[in-house]
Amino acid sequence: MDVISVIRTKRDRQRLSDDQIDWVIDAYTRGAVADEQMSALAMAILLNGMDRAEIARWTAAMINSGERMDFSSLDRPTADKHSTGGVGDKITLPLAPLVAACGAAVPQLSGRGLGHTGGTLDKLESIPGWRASLSNDEMLGVLGDTGAVICAAGDGLAPADKKLYALRDVTGTVEAIPLIASSIMSKKIAEGTGSLVLDVKVGSGAFMKSLDDARELASTMVGLGTDHGVRTVALLTDMSVPLGLTAGNALEVRESVEVLAGGGPADVVELTLALAREMLLAAGLPDADPAKALADGSAMDVWRRMIRAQGGDPAAPLPVARETHVVAAPSSGVLTALDAYAVGIAAWRLGAGRARKEDSVQAGAGVQLHAKPGDSVVAGQPLLTLHTDTPEKFAYAEEALADAFSVSAPDTPFSARPIVLDRIA
Ligand code: URA
Repeated sequence: MDVISVIRTKRDRQRLSDDQIDWVIDAYTRGAVADEQMSALAMAILLNGMDRAEIARWTAAMINSGERMDFSSLDRPTADKHSTGGVGDKITLPLAPLVAACGAAVPQLSGRGLGHTGGTLDKLESIPGWRASLSNDEMLGVLGDTGAVICAAGDGLAPADKKLYALRDVTGTVEAIPLIASSIMSKKIAEGTGSLVLDVKVGSGAFMKSLDDARELASTMVGLGTDHGVRTVALLTDMSVPLGLTAGNALEVRESVEVLAGGGPADVVELTLALAREMLLAAGLPDADPAKALADGSAMDVWRRMIRAQGGDPAAPLPVARETHVVAAPSSGVLTALDAYAVGIAAWRLGAGRARKEDSVQAGAGVQLHAKPGDSVVAGQPLLTLHTDTPEKFAYAEEALADAFSVSAPDTPFSARPIVLDRIA
């Protein structure tokens, strides 16, 4: 087998054979296929697609590139959630302890932010002392003791995806449904969860901009999970507007703690509860009541134990940025749009995200929203507050926000998009 014939097959719009797929994934993981060859193949896949059987084989080859975890020693059913990524998407933070408080074990292997979408690990690392990297034994220990763990995937899990994802990120080949579906599902299947709820984001702040593409991605992933014996369900959820009132690491931790304390923005609470219900159903715990676990403080108890178990101090003050800058409403009326992508780019430029894998992020940087679409605003009132340690970035962030919002006449009718747009099982 040689890599050039594999690239030519896909370049010429033909199916890759099982042998070609197994060989190329193995050879790339071992370093026998070069990055430039794999990036040519990834681009051919992005342009010419793969059918369901090719995607299934590609996913299986990525799972087989590394180890598989085993949670069978736990005395609770396992349930995991994965979001395809969005702006202000802090849902994992309240969700994992909430579902654990309702009786499931939640092994949440999470990632870092790259580009305009935030990463769960970056957010949690703003808590003083908290550690993302755990050995497999430590991970099982935290999961067994507290019911939930949020940590980085170990190097042994789907190593082919680790290499390929980093390569796609710098070669414009992220937004390919076969590659996204196989990337996410290889990690989740190798992780060994019994059930999985996918939060497939749709809208300007998501990888999938249209409902049709999101449906295609969701049904591909649900099919892959089901074929591997993982009970898998997907919710398609709105990402045209940022979730909640914050985008940025410590800012989002603060908002998540508000949700766990029984408050927080309505959209974050609604989506957290919707995903919790799906996870509990998929885990075989249909009678659990997540709204009660939020209200009675049991989810907050699990949060505190989970943070402490990973070296963090849940009571420590969170970092704040050195400088802030207010963006005011240009006129009075109804805020009718607040673009998720633009807010994500602004938060990233302020220092909340990284441009290259090796960059560090600012814990306090980000964007705070003072109004959401549908709210009435008065000319001159604060609409957004920008937070950063590097104030020379304010102008650069404001540039990203130039067309981010519209304020219409006070009597303009407005109907908000529902948060949950569809469910695919
Ligand atoms: N998240 C992943 O893990 N992989 C992708 O390809 C896209 C989002």
